[in-house]
Amino acid sequence: MEPEVIDVMARLEMRDQKERAQGSPGSDRIQALHPASGRFLYVLALAKGVKSIVEVGTSHGYSTLWLASAAKVNGGKVVTCDTNLERLAAARSNFAEAGLADVIEILEGDARETLRGRAEPVDLLLIDTTKSYYETYFDIVYQRLVKGGLVVADNVVSHQDELEDYVSYVENHPNLESAMVPIGRGLEISVKLTS
Ligand SMILES: C[S@@+](CC[C@H](N)C(=O)[O-])C[C@H]1O[C@@H](n2cnc3c(N)ncnc32)[C@H](O)[C@@H]1O
Repeated sequence: MEPEVIDVMARLEMRDQKERAQGSPGSDRIQALHPASGRFLYVLALAKGVKSIVEVGTSHGYSTLWLASAAKVNGGKVVTCDTNLERLAAARSNFAEAGLADVIEILEGDARETLRGRAEPVDLLLIDTTKSYYETYFDIVYQRLVKGGLVVADNVVSHQDELEDYVSYVENHPNLESAMVPIGRGLEISVKLTS
C-alpha cells in the first residue's frame, strides 16, 4: 500500500470516528466503511485477482481507496457511484491525493440508472448505500457478474432488520453461495456459481 493512500485513509478514518463519537446524523457524516471491512475487502480482492470492480456508495471514497489499491495491483479499475455531488467532489480530491484517480471511474447519479447502461463484466460488486434498494443494485449488476464473481453487502449486522430481505434473497438464490462475515458492521458475501 502506497504511503499517500495510507495518509488519505488515516485522515478519513479519524474523521469518521470523530463524527460517529459526536453522534452526528448519518447525512452529516462521511459514513465510511469500517476499517476492518476495508482491509478484508482489499485482501479478498488481491487474493482473487479481481480486475473489474463496481461500488454503489462512494461518499468521500474511503472504501473506494481500498478497492482501487487492489485494482491497481491487479491491473484493473473501480467504477463507483454516488448521488451526492458534494461528497463526490471530496472523493475526487481524495483519489487524486492518493494517486489512484487513474484507476477509478465515478458515475454521478442514482446507481439504479447509471449502472443500467453498462456492459463490461464485473468481478466484484460492493453495495454500501441506502439500505432500501440492495436487491435492486444486486439485480442490475447480476447479469454482468462473472462466474466466481463476488457481491459484498455491508451493514448486514448493524442494519439486520432493514437488510433481512436482502440476506434471505441471496442466501436462497439458486446460483449463489453466500456467507455472513461478522467483521466491521457485517458483510454478506455471495459468489456466483455459473455465468
Ligand atoms: C454509507 S455511504 C458510502 C460510504 C463509502 N462506501 C465509504 O466507505 O466511504 C452511502 C452513500 O450512498 C450514496 N447513495 C445513496 N443512494 C444512492 C443511489 N441510489 N445511487 C448511488 N449512490 C447512492 C449516498 O449519497 C452516500 O454517500
